[in-house]
Amino acid sequence: MAQTVSRLVSASKTFELGPERIRAVQEVSLSISSGETLGIIGPSGAGKTTLLRLIAALETPSSGDVFFLEHNVKDLKPTERRRFRLEKMGYVFQQLKLLPTLSALENVELPMALSSKTGDEQRSRAMQLLDSVGLGGKEHRRPEKLSLGEQQRVAVARALVNNPELILADEPTSQLDSTTGRKVIDLLLELGDKNSAIVIATHDRELASSLKKTYEMRDGSLA
Ligand SMILES: Nc1ncnc2c1ncn2[C@@H]1O[C@H](COP(=O)(O)OP(=O)(O)OP(=O)(O)O)[C@@H](O)[C@H]1O
Ligand SMILES: [Mg+2]
Repeated sequence: MAQTVSRLVSASKTFELGPERIRAVQEVSLSISSGETLGIIGPSGAGKTTLLRLIAALETPSSGDVFFLEHNVKDLKPTERRRFRLEKMGYVFQQLKLLPTLSALENVELPMALSSKTGDEQRSRAMQLLDSVGLGGKEHRRPEKLSLGEQQRVAVARALVNNPELILADEPTSQLDSTTGRKVIDLLLELGDKNSAIVIATHDRELASSLKKTYEMRDGSLA
């Protein structure tokens, strides 16, 4: 049976910049189950990244509640949040956040640091994923020796490596041509079949049209 992986109950996030109050996310209620793929589509500044960061417990809501696997994020200690993120979530950041001193392979291996897999098993899993995103042969390059689109695919491989319960992908195809973008989305969706819950934020309508369920986001609210 499908399990509720993430749940938002009237969650808002307001940033205070001096005298200014920016309502980045406004009273969003949302539930994401295992095996479900959700698209969040909206223009720049709509609040997509902030929403993903709330879901990932990278931000605490200003009001309302965010649950991950029925744990209220507010009640989790920072170490517990980190552990959940490392072991149960995969996040493709809009700014990728690859570690520049590590190779593509080492970047992808990183989230497996606490896994029970042996070093060899970790390596072969990372190699297999890099191969499936079309980076076979480039595993040992550092990010700076890869194109932006290739770096994006490393970030996708890294997010998938632990077969996470929840995958959050923030504009995961923004640097890719449509064919490669399509491949990356297919790879994400394949994982959905394996019971991960997936949230993809994008402003690309064509990409969003291949997702079963999408929400429009505008000025912090979901329509
Ligand atoms: N840390 C922050 N401090 C203050 N304001 C912020 C912060 N992060 C985001 N904002 C503001 O919140 C609003 C939503 O930003 P967000 O990054 O969530 O939008 P987005 O939909 O992801 O945009 P894009 O498509 O450009 O990535 C914007 O007005 C932005 O300026
Ligand atoms: Mg964004």
